[in-house]
Amino acid sequence: MKTLASIFAVLSLTLIAFQANPGVAAEEAEEAVTHQYIGVQACGMCHKKAKTGDQLKQWQESRHAQAFATLATEKAQTIATERGIEDPQKAAECLQCHVTQPAAAEIATPRKGKEGFLVEHGVQCETCHGAGSDYKSRKVMKDHDASIAAGLTIPDEQLCLTCHNDKSPTFTGFDFDEMWAKVNHPNPARAAE
Ligand code: HEC
Ligand code: HEC
Ligand code: HEC
Ligand code: HEC
Repeated sequence: MKTLASIFAVLSLTLIAFQANPGVAAEEAEEAVTHQYIGVQACGMCHKKAKTGDQLKQWQESRHAQAFATLATEKAQTIATERGIEDPQKAAECLQCHVTQPAAAEIATPRKGKEGFLVEHGVQCETCHGAGSDYKSRKVMKDHDASIAAGLTIPDEQLCLTCHNDKSPTFTGFDFDEMWAKVNHPNPARAAE
C-alpha cells in the first residue's frame, strides 16, 4: 500500500527529474498535441471486413456520414436564415456539431492517391475515437493499452451528449440505448473471444 510519504517521495523525484531535464516534459506535452487526423478511408483500410464488423460501411450508412451534407439542405438553410446565418456549411454555429475541424497542423498529409482527412466527412471515426496517426498501425491497434496511449479514445454516452443536446436546433431528446442501436458497430470476432 502506498503511504502518503511514499507518494510524496515519488512526486518530489518527478519534480527533480523535471527540473533536471525540462526538455523531456516539454517534448511529452508537444507529443500530446501532435496526433494527427488521417481520415475515414485510412481507418477503413482495416475496418471494412464483414468478419470483423465492417465499421466503415456501418458508418457510411449512418447519418453521421451525412452531417456536413445535411447543412446544405433546404431545412438547414431555413434554420440558418432564422438565425441570421448566411451559409450553414460555413458557420461555426452549425459546424461545431456537424463536423470535426482540426487545425491544419493536426491533419496528416495523405499518402499519394489517398483522400486523407476531409471535413466533408462530417461526424467521423476520429470525431469519436481521436486522431489516428499514432495508433493506426496494426501492431499498436491490436494492443488496447498501446492504442489508448497513442491517442485512441473509446467514447461513451458523455461524448454523444456534447452534440445531442438542446443547443441543437432540431433536438427532440436523446435516448442513448435507442440511438446507440442505430450506430453501433461491434466486431463480432471480438465478441466471440
Ligand atoms: C493497419 C490496420 C488498422 C488501421 C489503419 C486502423 N485499425 Fe483500428 N484496429 C485494427 C485491429 C487489427 C484492431 C483489433 C481488432 C479489432 O478490435 O477489430 C483494431 C481495433 C480498433 C478499435 C477497438 C480498440 C479496442 O481496444 O477496443 C477501435 C475503436 C479502432 N480500431 C478504431 C480505428 C480508427 C478510428 C482508425 C482510423 C483512425 C483505425 N482503427 C485504423 C486495425 C487497424
Ligand atoms: C460531434 C457531434 C456528435 C457526436 C459526438 C455524436 N453525434 Fe450523433 N449526430 C450528430 C449530428 C450532427 C447528427 C445529424 C446528422 C444528419 O442527420 O445529417 C447526428 C445523428 C445521429 C443519429 C441519427 C439521428 C436519428 O434520430 O436517427 C444517431 C442515431 C446518432 N447521431 C447517435 C449518436 C450516438 C449514440 C453518439 C455517441 C456514441 C453520437 N451520436 C455522437 C452529431 C454527433
Ligand atoms: C449542439 C450541437 C448542434 C448544433 C450547434 C447544430 N446541430 Fe444540427 N444536429 C445536431 C444533432 C445531434 C442532430 C441530429 C439529432 C437532432 O436533430 O438533434 C442534428 C440534425 C440537424 C438537421 C437534420 C434534422 C432532420 O432530422 O432532418 C439539420 C437540418 C440541422 N441539424 C441543421 C443545423 C443548422 C442549420 C445548425 C446551425 C444553425 C445546426 N444544425 C447546429 C447537432 C447540432
Ligand atoms: C458517434 C461516435 C462514433 C463514430 C463516428 C465511430 N465510432 Fe467506433 N465506437 C464508438 C463507440 C461508442 C464504441 C463502443 C465502445 C464500447 O464498446 O463501449 C465504438 C467501438 C468501435 C470498435 C470496437 C468494436 C468492438 O466490438 O470491439 C471499432 C473497431 C470501431 N469503433 C471503429 C470505428 C471506425 C473504423 C469508425 C469510422 C468508420 C468508427 N468506429 C466511428 C463510437 C464511434
